[in-house]
Amino acid sequence: MAQRPYIVGNWKMNGSRAMLAEARAIDRAAARHPQVDIALAPPFPLIGLLREAVTGIGVGGQDCHTEAKGAHTGDVSAAMLADIGADFVILGHSERRRDHGESNALVRAKADAALAAGLGVIICVGETLEERDAGRAEDVVASQVDHSLPQGEVALEAVAGGKLAVAYEPVWAIGTGRVADVEDVIAMHAAVRARLHAAYDEAGARPRILYGGSVNAGNAAALLAAPEVGGALVGGASLTADAFLPIVAAAGAGEG
Ligand code: PGA
Repeated sequence: MAQRPYIVGNWKMNGSRAMLAEARAIDRAAARHPQVDIALAPPFPLIGLLREAVTGIGVGGQDCHTEAKGAHTGDVSAAMLADIGADFVILGHSERRRDHGESNALVRAKADAALAAGLGVIICVGETLEERDAGRAEDVVASQVDHSLPQGEVALEAVAGGKLAVAYEPVWAIGTGRVADVEDVIAMHAAVRARLHAAYDEAGARPRILYGGSVNAGNAAALLAAPEVGGALVGGASLTADAFLPIVAAAGAGEG
């Protein structure tokens, strides 16, 4: 990997105060992997607590609203995430696109809001099995990248400053135990990089492109060694230190 690997745990709607012990264990181990950027994105109620529990890893949210404040019951703004100590936010995860009907345009508007609040952004893209079987995977993902990523001066500056990452997560690989073939991952990450250059010119080389979808201790090394795989977005295997740390170690070993 040419870039500093970025290993991000997405706790989804899992977690409790008791699980902060896992975050502390991950944080303690982070000191042994200084060449890896490590982060966790817990559910909203745990963000502030997790922020206070850790020192060496990043903390992020899993969504934010497009507005900074106002009459939007149940929503949380990017400014609130920043205020409570979050460093970044995951946007456009396929579960939000599916469960909440999030469009590319909405994801882009959320990304604009997050960057304006000073947060880093991880934008998720990925095709369904139906789209892959129809031979449309690359077109679908390219279109998601073209239409979900932030645009304009502020975005360009943020991208050049390393504030944007893209996570390629084939929907059929998420939580299924079924991982994409490394060759398919390589092809898709190259396609995403090409779209990043189209969007941001030279700065398009900067965003790390993470792979996500059933990443675990057994498959992490092979995936992380692939060209243009700048890290991993990890769901199920991020819920315990025992499952997560071997993935971090695999990323660190690739750097050694
Ligand atoms: P998984 O989830 O690792 O449990 O497949 C990945 C994700 O959805 O980010």
